[in-house]
Amino acid sequence: MRYDMVIRNASVIDGTRAPRFQADIGVVNGRIEKIGNLKSEPSDLVVDAAGKIAAPGFIDAHTHDDRLMLSFPEMAPKVSQGVTTVVAGNCGISLAPAPNGMRPPVPVPLDLLDDEGGWFRFRTFREYVEALRAQPAATNCALLVGHSMLRVQTLGNLGKPASPAEIGRMREMVDEALAAGAIGVSTGLYYEPACAAPTKEVIEVCRPLASRNGLYCTHMRDEGDRVMDSLDESFRIGKALGVPVVVSHHKVAGKPNHGRSAETLPLIAARMRGQKIGLDCYPYCASSTVLSFGRTLVASKTLVTWSKAHPEFSGFDLKEISARLGLSVEKTVEKLVPAGAIYFSMDEADVQRILAFESTMIGSDGLPHDAAPHPRLWGTFPRVLGHYSRKLNLFPLETAVYKMTGLTAKTFGLAERGVLKEGYAADIVIFDENEIEDAASFEKPIQPAKGIDTVIVNGALVWSGGKPSGARPGRVLARA
Ligand code: ZN
Ligand code: CU
Repeated sequence: MRYDMVIRNASVIDGTRAPRFQADIGVVNGRIEKIGNLKSEPSDLVVDAAGKIAAPGFIDAHTHDDRLMLSFPEMAPKVSQGVTTVVAGNCGISLAPAPNGMRPPVPVPLDLLDDEGGWFRFRTFREYVEALRAQPAATNCALLVGHSMLRVQTLGNLGKPASPAEIGRMREMVDEALAAGAIGVSTGLYYEPACAAPTKEVIEVCRPLASRNGLYCTHMRDEGDRVMDSLDESFRIGKALGVPVVVSHHKVAGKPNHGRSAETLPLIAARMRGQKIGLDCYPYCASSTVLSFGRTLVASKTLVTWSKAHPEFSGFDLKEISARLGLSVEKTVEKLVPAGAIYFSMDEADVQRILAFESTMIGSDGLPHDAAPHPRLWGTFPRVLGHYSRKLNLFPLETAVYKMTGLTAKTFGLAERGVLKEGYAADIVIFDENEIEDAASFEKPIQPAKGIDTVIVNGALVWSGGKPSGARPGRVLARA
């Protein structure tokens, strides 16, 4: 047998949590043909992985890469970390469908994708999927359609529950998106365009999920004082629809809530016995989203990530900006918006407890268009492997890999991905377990991680020698 590519002498961590083993991996036609001894087999390309780990390419369970895939298709922030698939369209925010276009000012938080509005150019979800197929990105993707986007496109008044007619129109758009290839719906009930939507509206808009095998992902209404109510609401929605629920970027925010992951995780575990539930988490105790004064009140520190009015303050501490301007924090926020921020609002012990929870997947929630982004954009996966697994020993490397591969593929229903197995897609990352580490920091957030050697998507090299190869083999993945 002649192979397109053979990875030799690898220490294989297969993404199932099984202990590592020594093997070669042979790739033909974008698939893993053989895992075993291939020392004397001919191959067009040989990658020597002696002393290194070969693992399934990482699946980023939570992204806002909807536009990045089109505007920066090499996907450097992701492939540099070993990510080979991104789940996009989270938090109620998706680039499509935009039957009515999008004129600036783009409503918060949809402006995280594009504050000018020009990228919201796909009238249907199918048009967006076709654009991704015509001009693929370096990574695969699985797509969610965002409830906030549907509301912005449909409702006359975002401050009210949708009318029955509006619900009907949004439900049709959900159905169109799922038929075109979306794997589910996301909500961002915390944010302004959706917070007036009652539970019932969400259920009725999401009805097509049941017959079209979709799932429900949610940035919950409240991740602070009322986090338990919000978990309950999320699970009620999943139950009413009969579909799996993914709780996005699970956290307990605000000082009074520190420690409460000791309440939320047992509730999640208990409800998991009666319905399908997943959750993801990023490995930092600071969050990031649009800038608002209210959010600064629960944070011990706030950094500005971008500002339309004052781009020169990107990366600065909000306190320092207000001192420079001689204004109160509230007035400073008013001057900067539309803007984004990083909020230090979580407790390290909660972050570790959530990361270590058996069903927690790793998702970056990276914001790729911010001028001074949260370091999770470039650092999430190597940080879990290097900082949390190797240095803090929070879990073994096999478990860390599982949380970003096999578990994620299983939770989202991505067939033949997330595990190194004969017949499965050749999405592979080769890394050095002793060197792997995030380099991106709050001070210097745009930095490729250390220790990632080679990244392969559908059998093609997308990252090697410390840079993107330029190949764009990514596919739009369906849910099995
Ligand atoms: Zn979110
Ligand atoms: Cu998000």
